[in-house]
Amino acid sequence: MKKTFFIRTYGCQMNFSEAERLRELLLNAGWKEEKNIENASVVMAIGCSIREKAENRVISFLKTHRYLKNKGTLIGLFGCTANLHKEKILEKIPFLDILCGPNQLNKIPEILENFSNGNVVVMTGENEQPFLECVPSKNDVTMAVPITKGCNNFCSYCVVPLARGKLVSRHPDSVIREIECAVEKGIKSVTLLGQNVNEYGQDFKFQFDFGDLLNEIVNIDGLLRIDFLTSHPEDTGEKILKIMAENPKIVKHLHIPLQSGSNKILKAMNRKYTVEKFLRTVEMARNLMPEISITSDIMVGFPGETEEDFEKTVEVVKNVRFNELFIFKYSPRPMTKAYNMNDDVPQEVKEYRHQLILSLQKKISNQIYEMFKGRICDVLIERKSVKNPCYVIGRNIQGIPVTCSCSENIIGSIVKVKIINHRQGLLYGSICEEFQLQQDPQFQGKKQI
Ligand code: SAH
Ligand code: SF4
Ligand code: F3S
Repeated sequence: MKKTFFIRTYGCQMNFSEAERLRELLLNAGWKEEKNIENASVVMAIGCSIREKAENRVISFLKTHRYLKNKGTLIGLFGCTANLHKEKILEKIPFLDILCGPNQLNKIPEILENFSNGNVVVMTGENEQPFLECVPSKNDVTMAVPITKGCNNFCSYCVVPLARGKLVSRHPDSVIREIECAVEKGIKSVTLLGQNVNEYGQDFKFQFDFGDLLNEIVNIDGLLRIDFLTSHPEDTGEKILKIMAENPKIVKHLHIPLQSGSNKILKAMNRKYTVEKFLRTVEMARNLMPEISITSDIMVGFPGETEEDFEKTVEVVKNVRFNELFIFKYSPRPMTKAYNMNDDVPQEVKEYRHQLILSLQKKISNQIYEMFKGRICDVLIERKSVKNPCYVIGRNIQGIPVTCSCSENIIGSIVKVKIINHRQGLLYGSICEEFQLQQDPQFQGKKQI
């Protein structure tokens, strides 16, 4: 068998980070990545099951490529989808060769090496395996670093605790070692990942929390920026916000999902905070960091959500003025607590509520981006633009994407960019002249004359 693989990833940043780690594992074991699926000897889909639609997407991808089995291609399903209701998955996709949950990825090179056709390998279950460490092999500027696995919160609608198991925090030495190594390879910015980063360390036998971890990471020489997701409204407190405010390397961005503006619905969701507590956290964050960007998730159409509950969510959205919102229609998920509740909000009402918040938020986001016009931002340039090779893309200190025209040799540096315009959440700017002059060899030549 040729040692070539193809990976297709769905879902959140955690899945994408694991895909990256799986890729590195295989490359280190002598495999080659194949961009053309037709030529790969192993096709791997990393699935998300957060909503029914997301799950259907990965299943349909696999079904579409079933014909590759005729050439002897191995087909595997990985990620959260593989860990949930595996009997149902094997029924729906009977031609699978490998079903592997997020906690067993470290075994994949060995499994593939010894695979004998006709067998189905199923590896799902607990998350006691050590965290997969990753040394980036590409010339990337940014990297996602998982700091926790799993989740203990059991929000009533959510499959994540079922798909990923209980909360396990990564030892600080392993996090620091990975970031130091990555910085040596050229990484300048890290995004720390966890379902609720504020719960980091709760399972340690020693005293060490998320704030302590941030305080260690900011001291890593050569690392320019640190951000993190997701912050849970129940646990985001003064300690973290103060550390964010005090450290220039920490991106001034909080992704803090509200879900609903109605306390009755939050209770039914088992979210364990109130709208008032959420608003106090936003106020504290803005008092400490007036420029902070706050983004959030909203779910519409949860069982029992009346027009009055929905109006309360609209009010909060209007009052808080989030930079961006991710808005989802409730999707009942088997095995969750909410699955037994009556999914009583009709589809067309979910649709209407979704559209209403979408268009309200679009206006708010536009007004916020409009205020950036004329401002000068410190932008860490991350990569060349895919659409236009004369442009580069980076992020300002609020984590907002910025693009400008410039030579690619500034990738990896923080530069001053004057914002001229914005479109669909992307700020357009031009590099400040002063910087351009320093960089331009012709100018330097003239200066010598
Ligand atoms: N750990 C994060 C959320 C991860 S899931 C947190 O606690 O905030 C990302 C988002 O998907 C959630 O914030 C929620 O808005 C949405 N989501 C989760 N389960 C869902 C479901 N069953 N139906 C619709 N949206 C859902
Ligand atoms: Fe799901 Fe809630 Fe855990 Fe987030 S905190 S992953 S929504 S159970
Ligand atoms: Fe992420 Fe989807 Fe799993 S949102 S944690 S990949 S179910």
